[in-house]
Amino acid sequence: MSELLARWEGTLACPVRGCGAVLSWEPRRTRCPHGHAFDLGRSGYCNLLQPQDKKSVHPGDSKEAVLARRRSLGRGLGASLREALLERVRQWAIPPEAVVLDVGCGEGFFLDQVVRATQAVGWGLDLSTPAIDTAARTYPDCRWVVGNADRHLPFRDGSVDLLLSITSRKNGPEFGRVLRDTGHLLVVVPDTDDLQQLREATLGKAIDKDRLASTLDALAGQFEVEQETTARSTHRLDAEALDDLLKGSYRGARLSARRRFEQIQELEVTLSYRLIGFRPRKLG
Ligand SMILES: C[S@@+](CC[C@H](N)C(=O)[O-])C[C@H]1O[C@@H](n2cnc3c(N)ncnc32)[C@H](O)[C@@H]1O
Repeated sequence: MSELLARWEGTLACPVRGCGAVLSWEPRRTRCPHGHAFDLGRSGYCNLLQPQDKKSVHPGDSKEAVLARRRSLGRGLGASLREALLERVRQWAIPPEAVVLDVGCGEGFFLDQVVRATQAVGWGLDLSTPAIDTAARTYPDCRWVVGNADRHLPFRDGSVDLLLSITSRKNGPEFGRVLRDTGHLLVVVPDTDDLQQLREATLGKAIDKDRLASTLDALAGQFEVEQETTARSTHRLDAEALDDLLKGSYRGARLSARRRFEQIQELEVTLSYRLIGFRPRKLG
């Protein structure tokens, strides 16, 4: 097997209940030694969602939300988060042989950026097929998997060096299982003032709930905080850009004050995130 293909072996695990054997990635499908096989989608992603994993309180993003978020990223609205993310990754000195897994990767922008910066092996997982299909079409240098991050992750124990959860799911036990003892976890949550002007203009409520405590709680059994930083930027946006921002955010999608929103032609909006770096807790 070529060195290039070997980089992808030994990470993916068969999702069939009770199996968990290594899943090899072939040109048209993935397959385990026990004969379980999963065809690749036309764009080259693999759907490993099992019937028992389909149910979720967060059903995954619609195509509309995926495309809206992609347009927002295209307007440069991910730049300050990207810079903070890459700075953290630089400080961790992730080597090219490392395996990076982005859980709830969406349309793949941030994983692609990390992989470009480190030359590491990049895996993206998301519950949304439109998100993974878009990622696979755009970033063929990474591998893309449909799966439910709230359930058993289709990755081998201790096979991941860097785990990313960027405004996405936080599954402490599973993150702890797939991450190597020497690995790093980077979690990004929206800060309390994220989209504050947009919320104020539409809901009359500016400050959002603090997600830090619940994040630390969800991960406390397996991880300890190593470092924390923020990424904040302000942008003057027109109605079209605001509409995309709203469609691409859960809080936005929930807004009932749509009529108020439709009257806004332009607004200065703050994007604000906390980046929390964790290391696996040493047991014993
Ligand atoms: C706010 S988006 C963030 C996307 C990406 N990380 C980014 O920052 O651009 C949250 C993502 O989590 C995905 N998601 C929601 N529930 C999930 C689950 N149970 N398992 C995996 N992904 C999930 C959604 O489909 C969506 O792509």
